[in-house]
Amino acid sequence: MHICNAPTDQGAGSGPPAVARPRSGFFMASNPLPSSDAAATTAAAGPPQAAQPPGLSALLRRTAALGVDTPVAAVADHMLDARHEGLLSLPIVHEGRPVGAISRYALMRIFLMPYGREIFGRRPIGEMANREVLVLPVATPIQDAARLIAEHVRSPITEDFILTDADGAYLGTGVVLDVLRAMDARLAQRNRELQAAYDRVRASQLQLIQSEKMASLGQMVAGLVHEINTPLGYVRNNVEMTRGALADATELVGAGEAVLGALFDGGEPPADLPARMAALAELRGRIDAAALADLSGLLEDTLHGLTQIGELIGHLKDFSRLDQARTQKADVNHLIDGALRIVQHILDRRGIEVVRTVAEAPAIDCAPAQINQVLLNLLGNAAQAIEHDRGRIIVRTQVLGERLLILVEDNGKGIAAEDMQRIFDPFFTTKPVGQGTGLGLAIAHQIVEQHGGLIRVASRPGVGTRFVVALPLAGRAAADGARA
Ligand SMILES: Nc1ncnc2c1ncn2[C@@H]1O[C@H](COP(=O)(O)OP(=O)(O)O)[C@@H](O)[C@H]1O
Ligand SMILES: [Mg+2]
Repeated sequence: MHICNAPTDQGAGSGPPAVARPRSGFFMASNPLPSSDAAATTAAAGPPQAAQPPGLSALLRRTAALGVDTPVAAVADHMLDARHEGLLSLPIVHEGRPVGAISRYALMRIFLMPYGREIFGRRPIGEMANREVLVLPVATPIQDAARLIAEHVRSPITEDFILTDADGAYLGTGVVLDVLRAMDARLAQRNRELQAAYDRVRASQLQLIQSEKMASLGQMVAGLVHEINTPLGYVRNNVEMTRGALADATELVGAGEAVLGALFDGGEPPADLPARMAALAELRGRIDAAALADLSGLLEDTLHGLTQIGELIGHLKDFSRLDQARTQKADVNHLIDGALRIVQHILDRRGIEVVRTVAEAPAIDCAPAQINQVLLNLLGNAAQAIEHDRGRIIVRTQVLGERLLILVEDNGKGIAAEDMQRIFDPFFTTKPVGQGTGLGLAIAHQIVEQHGGLIRVASRPGVGTRFVVALPLAGRAAADGARA
């Protein structure tokens, strides 16, 4: 594109003729216009549409151009022609090239002057032309055109711009409003595309969060299965022992009854009484009296095991509702204990000691399932970071001002300084495929923020890492209120 930089000649009647005078009045079809018919008419192209061919061709109005020699009075009549209604200015072309434009505004000023028509009516329009008109090649991309128009156009807008082919030959005019409309349509289209892209990203993000949830759920279930197996094992063992003891007891009672029946049925003692008594004595000698005495202890243990299994299933019930974001009053210390139970088997397997120091704290408004997920991830990360056999995880709660702090500290390998900025990024993981999704902390961060809280980390490579989650004691709404 280029802007005509010839000296200005804006006002009426000032300066010499802008260009050498050509022969004819109107500059029309004999010139290198693409189509002579089209050239004679204004605005064959209607209002611009979105998704048009590139550049400004869709906005091109095949306006008949004026020659530099056209008398001012003829230009005025021409301007009144209904075909030029939508145009602010008419192009002036010399030898196929645009040399300027004359605006309605400029003409109006001429004719409003006393005797303006008489004085200037016969003068050639070339003398009155604005030669700084904006000229754009028709291939100019629409957003470039919009930018150039914004740079070039003065307020109030009194002119249209001129379109040429790549060689600078006149093609027609373009209207600023058309460009605005085209830009608007394009922006609307872009907006729709962006919205669609945003929706897609959001959907896949939700899906990922879901899969991280499922992964932690899987981890929990595996842990609980392990935990349930232990009490289940001894409950089964106890029940088997009880069954054996019961069979013995039944036999003993049977033998005892045989003797007692013989002694107390009122008649002579039967001849086999000594044999019956011998059988009873033999049975008593054979049966483990201690086992029988232990029976109630055994049943006591069994009951304990069953209670434990019941509790574990209760935990599983709590955790299986991970996707429920329901807010309720919850005791964070209680949530911590639940989370510790879930990761217990991992900690045991790695010989990691847990130091738990919890402070008295009121129940807080939160989504317990989500806080569980945060705790589980912090504990899981801490356990995974420990690669030696002196592992220790400190879990502490503390009330500080209006906040409840949850500290999870490990003496694991720590986080490299260059990773610190990235650990909360979705998909950032230093763990091998299959072990890390890189979503845990990103989700934890999101959950804590949604609760009106903060999550912070401090770490020293080779020494350990401490995560601190601060949750507002009064719940999210109060935290928002305090901040406002
Ligand atoms: N306690 C920790 N000790 C050392 N590094 C950690 C700890 N917690 C998180 N990280 C680092 O942050 C990364 C991201 O953690 P996270 O978002 O939970 O994803 P993932 O555990 O799936 O890798 C981990 O891969 C690890 O490099
Ligand atoms: Mg993790």
